[in-house]
Amino acid sequence: MDVQELKLQELNEEAFIREQTADIAQAVGDGVAVNALSGGVDSSVVTLLGHQALGERLKTYFVDNGIMREGEPQRVVELFREKNVPVELIDARDEFFDALKGIEDPEEKRQAITDTFYKSVFSRLVKQSGARHLLQGTIFTDVEETVAGIKRQHNILAQLGIDTEQAYGYSVLEPLIRLRKPAVRAVGKALGLPEEVYNRPPFPGPALTARVVGEATRERIELVRKATVITEKELAGVKAFQCMAILHQDRVTGIRDGKREFGNQIEIRCWNTKDAVTATPVRVPWETLEKLAARLTTEVPGVVSVTYHIATKPPSTMEVV
Ligand code: XMP
Repeated sequence: MDVQELKLQELNEEAFIREQTADIAQAVGDGVAVNALSGGVDSSVVTLLGHQALGERLKTYFVDNGIMREGEPQRVVELFREKNVPVELIDARDEFFDALKGIEDPEEKRQAITDTFYKSVFSRLVKQSGARHLLQGTIFTDVEETVAGIKRQHNILAQLGIDTEQAYGYSVLEPLIRLRKPAVRAVGKALGLPEEVYNRPPFPGPALTARVVGEATRERIELVRKATVITEKELAGVKAFQCMAILHQDRVTGIRDGKREFGNQIEIRCWNTKDAVTATPVRVPWETLEKLAARLTTEVPGVVSVTYHIATKPPSTMEVV
């Protein structure tokens, strides 16, 4: 791996912002660049860096892939509009669900999302805009884990030997590639992002598909989305790196209104970790879990079982897919 990490303690945020905006401006020249904003800290920082470097010559898109959390696309677009950064919302839900149809294998699901994003949706947007460059928020850890063969992060291309110019018709600029998350957050703060963005708990690139075991259909994503709203609300007071709801593939026998119900299982995970490389489950108070289970089994249709994950990473991973 030939990328050199820039450690938090070596980071001078102002100098970093100056250097990166100058590099972006130089690489793009008098052309146009595009980027995709997901609302996560990485893509938010890239959006502001790119905007500072290029102004209106950066076209920022929010691709609604149908697998985001409740209300997320609209909220993110609005937030950036308030900062005078125009973001175009692209409805690509059908394309993503078509690509995910029938796929159960975790790596194949990730591949389908990657291909739909880069080959279909983004290639089209790039062509339409006339851009030759894509700005992307890849960070050091994404490269590290993908190159180590742990999980294929959806945004890793060049480091896997993919020539984006040849494969997709544009080149990729990655201003955050030398930073780990705490350093990205520091740059985000220095850029004036609101705290809810620069301190946002991580959310995976493959979004809710990382939390559905088996096929990610519209219905199953909708189910885990509902469970996620309730879980994030009920566990908001828990001190954790990340809490999540997962939908299992296996169904189990339950009983409702005196009748047998062959229903769904939701698993709750709540993690403590420093660097996401190793992690331990949080000891969430029992009463909190009971209340969460009661809400999930009454408010999410078809859920008859709620379990809490107590194994460590490794050998688990934090996400389930
Ligand atoms: P894992 O599941 O690899 O997650 O232990 C480590 C941290 O990275 C976040 N994250 C991702 N995880 N695919 C993932 O599986 C992705 O594309 C991705 N992006 C971010 C994950 O939420 C956890 O915080």
